[in-house]
Amino acid sequence: MTPVSKRIVSGMRPTGPLHLGHYFGVLKNWIALQEDHQCFLFVADWHALTSEYADPKKIKGFVPGLVLDWVAAGLNPDKCVIFQQSQVKAHAELHLLLSMATPLGWLERCPTYKEIKQELALKDLNTYGFLGYPVLMASDILIYRPGAVPVGQDQLPHLELTREIARRFNAINGEFFPEPAAMLTADPKLPGLDGRKMSKSYGNAIALGDSLDQIKPKIMSMLTDIRRARKSDPGDPEVCNLYPYHKLMTEAERLPAIEEGCRKATWGCVDCKKLLIESLARFLEPLHARRAKLEADPDSVRDILATGNAKAVQEAEATMAEVRRLLNFDF
Ligand code: TRP
Repeated sequence: MTPVSKRIVSGMRPTGPLHLGHYFGVLKNWIALQEDHQCFLFVADWHALTSEYADPKKIKGFVPGLVLDWVAAGLNPDKCVIFQQSQVKAHAELHLLLSMATPLGWLERCPTYKEIKQELALKDLNTYGFLGYPVLMASDILIYRPGAVPVGQDQLPHLELTREIARRFNAINGEFFPEPAAMLTADPKLPGLDGRKMSKSYGNAIALGDSLDQIKPKIMSMLTDIRRARKSDPGDPEVCNLYPYHKLMTEAERLPAIEEGCRKATWGCVDCKKLLIESLARFLEPLHARRAKLEADPDSVRDILATGNAKAVQEAEATMAEVRRLLNFDF
């Protein structure tokens, strides 16, 4: 079967407020794609349960917050289908069916499986559900037969598995699922305030909903080029944590002057930080305005999800009718 032309599918787990790393890594791409693609974007709440199974009540509270973050950032519910994974039960049915033919070795060898188990060593992730994380993800994707999946770099092994699972299904049951391609952003990575990967758990993130008063001290305490102890010491923007932020949020025509001022020590890191605060304020202003509007209407997120869930159910059920027929489970 050919992919539905110009359709993309992607999801995020509801684990807390989104930050600038999410925005530039994934969300910005989604927002651009909604203009000329049919976008199916969902809250992966079952995926959150693979690591939060011991405290499941945490997840529910993060679901509306994630949708609010998305729409405030610029996703338009009139242009894309925004929905919640657990409300489209067909994902679970396809997950079950695909699991039957998925070799354990594929899942055990998945690099994210080993890495995350190590990273979250305090949680017992020796579970059937966690091992099957990529199978559930394959179901989320294949059920909408998209051409591509816009994700962050970290999700590439999962997409590779999705394609392998599709190939195996097709080899057994006849050509049915198109193999989706990965779609990465062209933007350079945005590091956290301390230069490590931006992450809420490292305490080095700027959340999309942070107020300017919350942001200012974070920027002022950022590490710059450590060789610039004094303003008169020349620096190198390429090793400074601040510069990647300027590249993404300050007007492009100002960048050469910033670079020169740093290299020639004609302007200091404090000025550079003040300019970045201005850039951030300009960047976040429309996001905060949309957020305030959404927060003023308590039903808005519920309505967005209700509409999106219904559309997703319709699409997913259409695929499942075919899948059941192919497997002779169309009783
Ligand atoms: N695993 C993804 C993440 O953690 C979330 C996800 C679940 C997803 N299902 C998906 C992403 C399907 C893309 C497509 O970011």
